[in-house]
Amino acid sequence: MTPSQVRSELLRQHADLRQLMEAAREIARRVREGESLRRQLQASTLRLADALNAHNRREEELLPALTADGGWAPADPEGVNQRHFEEHKTLHGALVEVSTEPNAGWVAGHLVLALDTLLEHMANEERTFLHHSLLHDDEPDTDPYGGRPLGT
Ligand SMILES: [Fe+2]
Ligand SMILES: [Fe+2]
Repeated sequence: MTPSQVRSELLRQHADLRQLMEAAREIARRVREGESLRRQLQASTLRLADALNAHNRREEELLPALTADGGWAPADPEGVNQRHFEEHKTLHGALVEVSTEPNAGWVAGHLVLALDTLLEHMANEERTFLHHSLLHDDEPDTDPYGGRPLGT
């Protein structure tokens, strides 16, 4: 797989996740306004949890190679990967926990928090190892700071 193929696959999954998140957020909003949508809220949360799980597994397969040979070279790649994978577990666990709670009002509130954290997680990936200046098929830049996005 070329770097750009890896990038396209993971970004496509991010786009799908964002769509599922928008749908879940909309149901949560309606629940908070008093609509009785407990079942829809749980189904939507579980759909998102499943898609997130599949994405996380794929990312965990690909990330070690990206931090070792890709354009993104953190000082402590193993530590970075370890923390990243723990975040995956926490995010997925939060969605599963939320989906099993019978109180729809509680679910809606906690779901919104989990969605915000997940959005941040994905945005951070898109600023680092998924950034187009780092994950492309050209030869790496000889200037170690060339093209590196700020704050990475
Ligand atoms: Fe991730
Ligand atoms: Fe991701």
